[in-house]
Amino acid sequence: QKKMILDLDTGIDDAMAIAYALAAPDVDLIGIVSSYGNVLTPDAGVNSLKILELLGRTDIPVYLGEEHSQTTDHFDVMPISAKIHGQNGIGEVELPEPSRKLESQSGADFIIEAAHQYSSNLILVPTGPLTNLALALRKDPDIASLIGNVTIMGGALTVPGNVTPVAEANINQDPHAANEVFTSTLNLTMVGLDVTLRTLLTKKETQQWRELGTKAGTKFADIVDYYIDIYKITSPHLGGCALHDPLAVGVSLDPSFVTSMKLNMFVDTTPEMWGRTIGDPGRLTDPNPNVTVALTVDQNRYLQTFMNYLTALFK
Ligand code: BDR
Ligand code: CA
Repeated sequence: QKKMILDLDTGIDDAMAIAYALAAPDVDLIGIVSSYGNVLTPDAGVNSLKILELLGRTDIPVYLGEEHSQTTDHFDVMPISAKIHGQNGIGEVELPEPSRKLESQSGADFIIEAAHQYSSNLILVPTGPLTNLALALRKDPDIASLIGNVTIMGGALTVPGNVTPVAEANINQDPHAANEVFTSTLNLTMVGLDVTLRTLLTKKETQQWRELGTKAGTKFADIVDYYIDIYKITSPHLGGCALHDPLAVGVSLDPSFVTSMKLNMFVDTTPEMWGRTIGDPGRLTDPNPNVTVALTVDQNRYLQTFMNYLTALFK
């Protein structure tokens, strides 16, 4: 059975990513690492604990990750996304304080240990900045060839960014870390805005969770409705909220949800193009592309799978 680690800045769509990973068959979620972005790292960790508790999975450990970029002083950890995910990151919905604490081992060390323990059986899905993974790679470069697959939510190739004209939020937080990850020998798939802005959820779907009459269904409906309401203001043309992070989990388990292209990518860290994910002009003819970039998505099949999984989980 495949083992999965999520690395999250939990966040509303990160919370849906946890639910998807728990509901998907044939994968064992062995731990969650916390990151910063939607909220600060310690709060992301607590949110993950709360979501796990809501879903009855207090057996899954949560590790504290880095609190900001390790390689640049150009960072702003105070999230602009508080407007999108709420001050508490989970749509201002109240969940009980978790009964458990975060693990004492660091997120990067947990990734390194799991890479050695499970090697090609390990799937890593970061849906926040890539700070923890870049740190793990610096501490132990061997993990690049050990980990089976890394599927990130981040970046944008064919569409503009969502926090600047060129940058997507997760990459924008720590482009140096992202570039280290992109240009490493990791087996890397990029699930960026090109595809995540095409998988949308509406209140028609969250109403189905509400109608289950369970605590998990009602709380998730409340949390995600907050996100849907914000999207109505910030991106009314979309007609729903984007399933960014749960799509990355879906693609990591079933790459056939998307069509993709292998490209030599890098992340621009110049001030003008800060955080842009784009083809590496120095490697245009390199026959061994470093990143699999998702370009189109089977929205209907993904949404159907997403709803089947989450509805069964919330019952
Ligand atoms: C990404 O940024 C965060 O706000 C979301 O959780 C998602 O991971 C989208 O750009
Ligand atoms: Ca996220």
